[in-house]
Amino acid sequence: MGQRLLLSGLAAAAIFTSGSRGADAVAGLNDGIFNQQQVKSGKRLYKKYCKSCHEGDYFGPVLLAWQGEQLASFFDVMTSAMPENDPGSLEQEQYTDLLAYILKISGYPQDIRSLDPGTVEFAGIVIEKPLH
Ligand code: HEC
Repeated sequence: MGQRLLLSGLAAAAIFTSGSRGADAVAGLNDGIFNQQQVKSGKRLYKKYCKSCHEGDYFGPVLLAWQGEQLASFFDVMTSAMPENDPGSLEQEQYTDLLAYILKISGYPQDIRSLDPGTVEFAGIVIEKPLH
């Protein structure tokens, strides 16, 4: 009898936990929203198109200044205004990989997800501080 009560208590706790997390909560910058392949590609592109004007440590403070804004707005600025000597000249996928690299070197975690600015999830991401 005592054991049955305990088990049903655990089941209720499990339901409560999964319910409170929300099945389709939007992932944030600290949830690993880009992958290693994108970072690698972004690093190569960065050397070629960005490094002549920006050292890597430029972006951490820039992202902090953008805190509370949409990541999508940041991406729009990047794609429309950079590289400054030839704005908007890269492919969307190249800008995406560049963003992954910029996020990586600014302290955000990589995981297995593929960063994709075309998704509803991307539109919901708000820029926040890196956790580490
Ligand atoms: C010819 C020089 C040059 C190149 C090449 C260049 N940038 Fe910039 N970038 C600038 C200047 C100038 C600014 C504005 C500086 C400032 O306000 O601090 C800037 C600003 C930025 C910002 C900040 C925008 C903001 O509103 O905070 C980002 C992000 C950025 N660049 C990304 C890139 C990326 C990614 C590349 C490569 C695709 C790149 N830049 C290549 C000169 C350059």
